[in-house]
Amino acid sequence: MKIFELYSALINKKHKYNYKISEFDIRHLISFYQNIDPILSFYLKINDEVKHIQKIEKAFNKIKDFPIEYLLNETFFLKNKFFINKNVLIPRQETEELVDLFFKKINYFIQKYKKRNLNILDVGTGSGVIAIEIKKKFPEFNVYAVDISKKALKVAKKNASNLKVDVFFYYADTFPKRKNNDKKYDVVISNPPYIHDKTTVEKSVLKHEPHKALFITKTNNVYKKILKNVSYLSLPALVIFEISEDCVNLLNNLLFKYLKKYDYEYQYHKDMAKKIRFLVLIIKRQKC
Ligand SMILES: C[S@@+](CC[C@H](N)C(=O)[O-])C[C@H]1O[C@@H](n2cnc3c(N)ncnc32)[C@H](O)[C@@H]1O
Repeated sequence: MKIFELYSALINKKHKYNYKISEFDIRHLISFYQNIDPILSFYLKINDEVKHIQKIEKAFNKIKDFPIEYLLNETFFLKNKFFINKNVLIPRQETEELVDLFFKKINYFIQKYKKRNLNILDVGTGSGVIAIEIKKKFPEFNVYAVDISKKALKVAKKNASNLKVDVFFYYADTFPKRKNNDKKYDVVISNPPYIHDKTTVEKSVLKHEPHKALFITKTNNVYKKILKNVSYLSLPALVIFEISEDCVNLLNNLLFKYLKKYDYEYQYHKDMAKKIRFLVLIIKRQKC
């Protein structure tokens, strides 16, 4: 059987039984067992003979209710392959958009505020996708990343090593622990836990993904922990958050409460699905 025949058979099966599997998931699955790149090579190899039909069919049946990324221990983020396991959130497309937004804003920020030797902090790094993509694109930046999960940090370090980038990882709550004269951050980027209501989450996400990565709580509100601690930032500082629409009121209140002493400007941005998804904030200086 050729790859294209198996591919269309699996797509038909997905439609017939209404499986929540994307066409990319099917290309990913076939490519994994064919040992090819699903993004760069799948269509080039579409006439090759399939090597492991039974394994692919067995895995296909599993992924109808189990995330493919955890089954294969890998995912793709902005075209790079990342190791993934159950200790980290599966990176989402919105977070690719967050990193793209960072790429769009950073040059303006550097030029406008004449910033040099940037220190960038990724809060809640999970698998490390944000920090690693930033360091790959801007090797001259010093990139730091923290997480409260030691197991997630192990995954992030493995990814940084696989993708050959130097990111400084810390096991810490929000900011790395400070020593005297320690560095301050020019940019803080974060996709923190931001779901308020468990009932809005898909069953498969609730069942398989780490709850530490998903839910904002009274004691763990990363937005608040960051905005309360402007002393960690080197002003003017750029702050970029991934958020959900129901975080907007909370964020407006936090800005009002914690940035009273500062001049700042901010803007909410929508994602490709036209939902408010990002906050871009520049804290310029302390008011006189
Ligand atoms: C939504 S996940 C994001 C993971 C990754 N950055 C991504 O975008 O795919 C949030 C991550 O933040 C971590 N986290 C939660 N609270 C934190 C805190 N107070 N300080 C540092 N990391 C935290 C979780 O362990 C989890 O890995």
